[in-house]
Amino acid sequence: MKLLIINGPNLNLLGKRQPEIYGSKTFDQYFSELQFGFQEIELAFYQSNVEGELINKLHNAQEEGFEGIIMNPAAYTHTSLAIADAVASIEIAVVEVHISNVMDREKIRHISMISKNAAGTIAGFGLDGYKLAIQSFMNKREE
Ligand code: DQA
Repeated sequence: MKLLIINGPNLNLLGKRQPEIYGSKTFDQYFSELQFGFQEIELAFYQSNVEGELINKLHNAQEEGFEGIIMNPAAYTHTSLAIADAVASIEIAVVEVHISNVMDREKIRHISMISKNAAGTIAGFGLDGYKLAIQSFMNKREE
Protein backbone atom coordinates (compact mmCIF):
# COMPACT_ATOMS: atom_id res chain seq x y z
CA MET A 1 0.00 0.00 0.00
CA LYS A 2 1.26 3.43 -0.96
CA LEU A 3 0.37 6.29 1.42
CA LEU A 4 1.19 9.98 1.21
CA ILE A 5 1.68 12.25 4.21
CA ILE A 6 1.09 15.94 3.48
CA ASN A 7 2.05 18.59 6.00
CA GLY A 8 0.97 22.20 5.68
CA PRO A 9 2.53 25.52 6.67
CA ASN A 10 5.05 25.90 9.47
CA LEU A 11 5.28 22.15 10.02
CA ASN A 12 8.72 22.27 8.42
CA LEU A 13 9.71 23.86 11.75
CA LEU A 14 8.70 20.88 13.87
CA GLY A 15 11.29 20.30 16.56
CA LYS A 16 12.00 24.02 16.86
CA ARG A 17 8.52 25.49 16.74
CA GLN A 18 6.69 25.77 20.09
CA PRO A 19 8.08 22.45 21.40
CA GLU A 20 5.74 22.64 24.39
CA ILE A 21 2.87 22.15 21.90
CA TYR A 22 4.41 20.21 19.03
CA GLY A 23 7.28 18.33 20.68
CA SER A 24 11.00 18.44 20.05
CA LYS A 25 11.33 15.94 17.23
CA THR A 26 11.78 17.02 13.63
CA PHE A 27 9.40 15.49 11.12
CA ASP A 28 12.33 13.96 9.24
CA GLN A 29 13.33 12.06 12.39
CA TYR A 30 9.75 10.95 12.94
CA PHE A 31 9.30 9.98 9.29
CA SER A 32 12.32 7.63 9.48
CA GLU A 33 10.71 5.98 12.52
CA LEU A 34 7.45 5.58 10.59
CA GLN A 35 9.27 4.01 7.65
CA PHE A 36 11.04 1.63 10.02
CA GLY A 37 7.81 0.76 11.84
CA PHE A 38 5.73 0.23 8.70
CA GLN A 39 8.10 -1.47 6.30
CA GLU A 40 5.22 -3.10 4.45
CA ILE A 41 3.85 0.35 3.52
CA GLU A 42 5.36 2.58 0.87
CA LEU A 43 5.32 5.94 2.62
CA ALA A 44 5.98 9.31 1.03
CA PHE A 45 6.09 12.70 2.66
CA TYR A 46 5.46 16.18 1.27
CA GLN A 47 5.48 19.52 3.08
CA SER A 48 4.72 22.97 1.75
CA ASN A 49 4.00 26.39 3.16
CA VAL A 50 2.13 27.29 -0.03
CA GLU A 51 -1.60 26.65 -0.30
CA GLY A 52 -1.63 26.07 -4.08
CA GLU A 53 1.21 23.56 -3.85
CA LEU A 54 -0.71 21.57 -1.26
CA ILE A 55 -3.72 21.58 -3.57
CA ASN A 56 -1.64 20.44 -6.56
CA LYS A 57 -0.25 17.59 -4.48
CA LEU A 58 -3.76 16.49 -3.53
CA HIS A 59 -4.83 16.61 -7.19
CA ASN A 60 -1.86 14.56 -8.37
CA ALA A 61 -1.88 11.93 -5.64
CA GLN A 62 -4.06 9.44 -7.48
CA GLU A 63 -1.99 9.66 -10.64
CA GLU A 64 1.09 9.15 -8.49
CA GLY A 65 -0.40 5.86 -7.32
CA PHE A 66 -1.25 6.74 -3.72
CA GLU A 67 -4.10 4.81 -2.10
CA GLY A 68 -4.51 7.10 0.88
CA ILE A 69 -3.51 10.51 2.16
CA ILE A 70 -2.73 11.58 5.70
CA MET A 71 -2.91 15.34 5.84
CA ASN A 72 -2.11 17.88 8.50
CA PRO A 73 -3.25 21.09 6.79
CA ALA A 74 -1.94 23.07 9.80
CA ALA A 75 -3.37 26.62 9.94
CA TYR A 76 -5.07 26.12 6.55
CA THR A 77 -7.37 23.68 8.35
CA HIS A 78 -9.19 26.64 9.81
CA THR A 79 -9.22 28.95 6.81
CA SER A 80 -8.85 27.23 3.46
CA LEU A 81 -12.00 26.61 1.47
CA ALA A 82 -9.69 25.85 -1.46
CA ILE A 83 -8.01 22.93 0.33
CA ALA A 84 -11.41 21.75 1.58
CA ASP A 85 -12.65 21.77 -2.04
CA ALA A 86 -9.58 19.86 -3.18
CA VAL A 87 -10.14 17.18 -0.52
CA ALA A 88 -13.77 16.93 -1.63
CA SER A 89 -12.75 16.72 -5.29
CA ILE A 90 -10.43 13.74 -5.14
CA GLU A 91 -11.38 10.09 -4.82
CA ILE A 92 -8.60 9.07 -2.45
CA ALA A 93 -9.51 9.04 1.26
CA VAL A 94 -7.86 11.76 3.32
CA VAL A 95 -7.35 11.30 7.06
CA GLU A 96 -6.90 14.64 8.83
CA VAL A 97 -4.27 14.74 11.55
CA HIS A 98 -3.41 17.39 14.13
CA ILE A 99 -0.53 17.00 16.52
CA SER A 100 -2.10 19.16 19.20
CA ASN A 101 -5.58 18.86 20.64
CA VAL A 102 -7.09 21.68 18.59
CA MET A 103 -10.32 21.51 20.61
CA ASP A 104 -8.40 22.52 23.70
CA ARG A 105 -6.92 25.60 22.05
CA GLU A 106 -8.19 28.95 20.74
CA LYS A 107 -11.74 29.02 19.32
CA ILE A 108 -10.55 29.59 15.75
CA ARG A 109 -8.77 26.23 15.92
CA HIS A 110 -12.04 24.45 16.77
CA ILE A 111 -13.19 25.02 13.21
CA SER A 112 -12.02 22.68 10.49
CA MET A 113 -12.91 23.33 6.87
CA ILE A 114 -11.48 19.90 6.04
CA SER A 115 -13.21 17.51 8.46
CA LYS A 116 -16.49 17.29 6.57
CA ASN A 117 -14.79 15.63 3.63
CA ALA A 118 -12.11 13.76 5.52
CA ALA A 119 -12.42 10.03 6.17
CA GLY A 120 -11.72 10.85 9.81
CA THR A 121 -9.84 13.23 12.09
CA ILE A 122 -7.17 12.45 14.67
CA ALA A 123 -6.05 15.20 17.04
CA GLY A 124 -4.23 15.53 20.31
CA PHE A 125 -1.98 12.46 20.27
CA GLY A 126 1.18 14.27 19.27
CA LEU A 127 3.11 12.82 16.34
CA ASP A 128 1.52 9.45 17.13
CA GLY A 129 -1.52 10.76 15.26
CA TYR A 130 0.26 9.96 11.97
CA LYS A 131 0.88 6.40 13.16
CA LEU A 132 -2.79 6.03 14.09
CA ALA A 133 -3.79 7.33 10.66
CA ILE A 134 -1.57 4.77 8.89
CA GLN A 135 -3.05 2.09 11.11
CA SER A 136 -6.55 3.22 10.12
CA PHE A 137 -5.72 2.69 6.43
CA MET A 138 -4.31 -0.77 7.24
CA ASN A 139 -7.42 -1.71 9.22
CA LYS A 140 -9.65 -0.50 6.40
CA ARG A 141 -7.76 -2.67 3.95
CA GLU A 142 -8.31 -5.75 6.09
CA GLU A 143 -12.08 -5.17 6.37
C1 DQA B 1 -1.93 21.88 13.87
C2 DQA B 1 -2.94 22.76 14.60
C3 DQA B 1 -3.21 24.04 13.84
O1 DQA B 1 -4.16 24.83 14.53
C4 DQA B 1 -1.94 24.83 13.70
O2 DQA B 1 -2.16 25.99 12.94
C5 DQA B 1 -0.80 24.05 13.15
C6 DQA B 1 -0.66 22.65 13.56
C7 DQA B 1 -1.53 20.65 14.69
O3 DQA B 1 -0.93 19.76 14.12
O4 DQA B 1 -1.80 20.59 15.90
O5 DQA B 1 0.06 24.57 12.46
O6 DQA B 1 -2.51 21.43 12.67
